[in-house]
Amino acid sequence: MLNGGMGNAVKKSMEILVALGEIYGSDRLIDVSSVQVAGVSYDNLGDAGLEFLADLAKDGQVKVLTTLNPAGMDLENWKNLGISEDFAKKQTQVIEAFSRMGIITTCTCTPYLIGNLPKFGDHIAWSESSAVAFANSVLGARTNREGGPSALAAALTGKTPNYGMHLDENRQAQITVEVKAKIKDTSEFGALGYVIGNKIKNKIPFITGIKEADLEQLKSFSASIATYGGTALFHIKGITPNKTKKPKEKITITKEDIESALKAMNDDVEDIDFVSLGCPHASLKEIEKFAGLLKGKKVKVETWIATARPTKGIADMAGYTKIIEDSGAKFACDTCMVVAPLKGRFKSLATDSAKSCFYGRSKNNFKMRVGTIEDCINAAVTGKWKSNL
Ligand code: F3S
Repeated sequence: MLNGGMGNAVKKSMEILVALGEIYGSDRLIDVSSVQVAGVSYDNLGDAGLEFLADLAKDGQVKVLTTLNPAGMDLENWKNLGISEDFAKKQTQVIEAFSRMGIITTCTCTPYLIGNLPKFGDHIAWSESSAVAFANSVLGARTNREGGPSALAAALTGKTPNYGMHLDENRQAQITVEVKAKIKDTSEFGALGYVIGNKIKNKIPFITGIKEADLEQLKSFSASIATYGGTALFHIKGITPNKTKKPKEKITITKEDIESALKAMNDDVEDIDFVSLGCPHASLKEIEKFAGLLKGKKVKVETWIATARPTKGIADMAGYTKIIEDSGAKFACDTCMVVAPLKGRFKSLATDSAKSCFYGRSKNNFKMRVGTIEDCINAAVTGKWKSNL
């Protein structure tokens, strides 16, 4: 493979994997069963990235199930989202290059909702930080947080170096986090990720005190803790499936910590000109909720619901899409407000996502409002932010 006997794409991929393995002291390469590739938005890739992909696509073919992270636009409905022709042309070329390599060009940060669903103990190579945290922690699969090139290299060879999160000894909790607050909706789970991430950075937490958490709350938490801290794995007592010892070092999270995190994520702004829901990409259950709240109403400001295209396909069949689009809200499939080229288009964003808050500020300079889904839909309909905070 390294000598080029299996083609140029395999050779280049193997060079990347061997170099990584040497840096991290890996003993060998192991097989992966699933890959998720980031670095899909032309906004981040530019022409150099596009050339790199086109070159690999000349003879590269993926060996395992591979899907993509969100792209810079809705691949079908980009005009309606205000994307320029030039950008669309380049983004389409990027997707075509991935497609030539045999990648399923579903662009989503929640691959586990659309059939790229590894089982407990599977070794995989995923890129997107929220999906990596979800896969390691909630599914019990094993992945390092891959960069775009290393994930693609894993896809083209079916292999990854054996280090980091693939090894038992690196998956043990390092700090106990006792939560002494009732955590309810996605925004509060996002706030919890904000607090824990900021306090423990990339340590692996063993979290106690959470009585229940549904899939949507866990995906919000995965996104937030990975964004604000950097950990790729967490354990929640009674909820996540990995076995770990309870570490002696301990911190406590209180109701006041959650409240001050929500305060810190909220700027003092009342007028909202952009609402974005679906970070990480919305599940069908969330879309059902959005439809219920938007039924019979009209939105006043640009409102995006980011999701995977197959999830929208089911929403179409269920009638949710019609209700949502009749309100004037738009689906942003294949993309999201962070990877789309939005700088300068809006001033203040309302969302239920702590991760969107981080990138809304840092990438797009938006003033931010973070609250419940109900708060966000209300802002979409009135153009004003009103919540209990
Ligand atoms: Fe997904 Fe975009 Fe959020 S990639 S996790 S919707 S920032």
